[in-house]
Amino acid sequence: MQLLDGKKTANDIKEEIAIEVTTLVAKGGKKPHLAAILVGSDGASETYVNAKVKACERVGFDSTLVRFDSDVSEEELLSEIEKINNNLDIDGLIVQLPLPKHIDEMKVTEAISPKKDVDGFHPSNIGRMTLNSPTFLPATPAGILELLERHKVETVGKHCVIVGRSNIVGLPMSILMAQKSYPGNCTVTLTHSRTQNLKKITKTADILIVALGKAEFVTADMVKDGVCIIDVGITRVKSDKTKSGWKLLGDVAFESVKDKCSFITPVPGGVGPMTIAMLLKNTLIAAKSKT
Ligand code: GUN
Repeated sequence: MQLLDGKKTANDIKEEIAIEVTTLVAKGGKKPHLAAILVGSDGASETYVNAKVKACERVGFDSTLVRFDSDVSEEELLSEIEKINNNLDIDGLIVQLPLPKHIDEMKVTEAISPKKDVDGFHPSNIGRMTLNSPTFLPATPAGILELLERHKVETVGKHCVIVGRSNIVGLPMSILMAQKSYPGNCTVTLTHSRTQNLKKITKTADILIVALGKAEFVTADMVKDGVCIIDVGITRVKSDKTKSGWKLLGDVAFESVKDKCSFITPVPGGVGPMTIAMLLKNTLIAAKSKT
């Protein structure tokens, strides 16, 4: 079994980005600049956005964090997005999801300029991704592709089973793994909450990507020997074995499954750090596309 070490891979990518920023600035260019909008004070969203801002600092980017109370009107949020769209100094813009119920997420996503949409969530960028045209790939799927590529995981002709059909992970992953490129060229099965006989399907997976948000959902009896597992889940559960009183669990019961795997991502330290690294990579691409 080989660990797909997201922490190390993400650090390698961040170092590569930092070197590019230094070169860009030495040539008289400006630092890439990411703006993030956070609405409300959801603990997980707060943690993610703070990690994104910190990662910007680490690679030499500028960053701007715009905060709104959870009762902000949709109109006010859309007007801030328009302001950032028109701000020539800002290269990339993300609005952390989920948003409060009174705000239409699709309207917000569509309001972000596709040229600054470094999350890759805008319908026109999803369309470009689907057609394999150059675009910003959503950060988590892009991070998974990068993990597979940098660990030279074979994908051609393999059966890739995806559990979960979210717009952020499962759905784009199913498109990317089927594409005529590496990593890709898989036969893909996209499973979800209405799938029948899930275990029968997961047992045939050569590559199993789980993005469901249910702690330790996948157990050893659900996978075959030699499977490559990508675990996207991060659930915080109480623990009396850690100092903080909490621990993070993936969607896969790691200890029971690991000995059957050719490759597996740990949680934490697998897909999570890759998401932030790929967001930085998209922001660098956005900045360079203007020069
Ligand atoms: N919420 C959960 N994941 C993401 C992400 O990748 N980007 C944004 N903007 N919000 C999220």
